[in-house]
Amino acid sequence: MSAVLVRAEALKKTYGTGALAVSVLRGISLEVEAGSLVLLMGPSGSGKTTLVSILAGLLRPTAGRIELCGRDISALSEAQVAAVRRHHLGFVFQTYNLFPALSALENISEVLKMKGFAPREARRRAQDALARVGLGDRLSHRPGELSGGQKQRVAIARALAGDPALIFGDEVTAALDTSTALRVMDLLRAQVTPERAILIVTHDRRLEKYADRVIHIEDGRVVSTTEVAQQPGGLEAQP
Ligand SMILES: Nc1ncnc2c1ncn2[C@@H]1O[C@H](COP(=O)(O)OP(=O)(O)OP(=O)(O)O)[C@@H](O)[C@H]1O
Ligand SMILES: [Mg+2]
Repeated sequence: MSAVLVRAEALKKTYGTGALAVSVLRGISLEVEAGSLVLLMGPSGSGKTTLVSILAGLLRPTAGRIELCGRDISALSEAQVAAVRRHHLGFVFQTYNLFPALSALENISEVLKMKGFAPREARRRAQDALARVGLGDRLSHRPGELSGGQKQRVAIARALAGDPALIFGDEVTAALDTSTALRVMDLLRAQVTPERAILIVTHDRRLEKYADRVIHIEDGRVVSTTEVAQQPGGLEAQP
């Protein structure tokens, strides 16, 4: 039995109040186990970004309960939730969110220093992480000197460098061409370990084959959950 890293029960989210209230999540329950890659799919406006923000402790639900890495974050203060995020979570976004003036290495090491790592350790981890995503020869390149796929790999390296139990991604391939997008997904898939899970929000059906589970949401509700059998040895071993 794998540990459950995310457990959401009956989540609801309403933006605004009174006549302007918009009910975006209408009772969502889901689990993400360690060792799995889960895709959260649904049409534009269905509440995917809202849901992932709530699961990652960035936004409070209107109702419902969330356990993140074994902690009931509904019961924690903002500072305690921030500490869970800092120690256990990594994030990858559609637009990379890299600092343009910093090198690939500094983009990662500066974040690690903010998380509390000593400068030398931060640098060593940043170097290791960039090597792991195949960018060991791009340490001093700035984002403007990297391709879209390379920028996303720096962002993945940044997410990995703190050795998170959970990686959250929102439309991580939306800005990339097909072959680059699939290579980025191969790379993310390879980061799933028995202790780690990855949850990715997307409306790109080409990504389904990388997932262990695909959760479809529509209009703020889960409409289906599909388990996908992964080949032992990964996608590259398939014909
Ligand atoms: N801060 C906010 N205040 C009010 N309404 C919001 C807010 N954020 C999102 N919404 C509304 O909530 C709904 C869901 O938005 P959300 O961003 O979660 O959708 P999504 O599934 O991620 O869409 P997309 O695929 O286009 O990114 C939308 O109708 C949106 O207008
Ligand atoms: Mg979104």
